[in-house]
Amino acid sequence: MSKHNTDTHSSDETMQLGEKLASLLKPGDVLTLEGDLGAGKTTFTKGLARGLGVKRTVNSPTFTIVKEYEGRLPLYHMDVYRLENSDEDIGFDEYFHGEGITVVEWATFIEDFLPTERLNVKISYQEGDSRVIEFTSNSYHYESIVNELLS
Ligand SMILES: Nc1ncnc2c1ncn2[C@@H]1O[C@H](COP(=O)(O)OP(=O)(O)OP(=O)(O)O)[C@@H](O)[C@H]1O
Ligand SMILES: [Mg+2]
Repeated sequence: MSKHNTDTHSSDETMQLGEKLASLLKPGDVLTLEGDLGAGKTTFTKGLARGLGVKRTVNSPTFTIVKEYEGRLPLYHMDVYRLENSDEDIGFDEYFHGEGITVVEWATFIEDFLPTERLNVKISYQEGDSRVIEFTSNSYHYESIVNELLS
């Protein structure tokens, strides 16, 4: 398990980080996003989507749990906030083992369903529009992505 962090000072900067990360991802990669309400999980995902060449606008999928977008690779954007205290399996494995990139907001609420290999992104509030973005990787694959991202 290794952790690396960086900070951003605007939503644009957070989107740019997501966009750069997108260029490093491979089919089947899974990102789990942690952070308080309004920390910037969806903002980060919007940047990621831009980096994947998604043309449609990415919005918070709170009411649908998962939305799929077409891009260079498909993007599966989940927000599992509503699944807190639920053990419902909405067919997570098809996404996690699919050909696209899966991004899960509030991933801690579906801990039992998550694949063991994943890249966790934790966004924390700082003063004003600043955020600390901490990447935790638990495999060589994700570790090299983070090293490249932050270099
Ligand atoms: N550095 C920053 N990074 C990301 N967002 C920022 C930053 N500074 C300000 N913001 C603003 O914070 C808000 C983040 O909202 P966003 O919907 O991305 O959060 P979220 O973590 O997805 O929330 P939720 O838990 O409700 O899904 C946006 O209004 C964005 O413009
Ligand atoms: Mg959100």
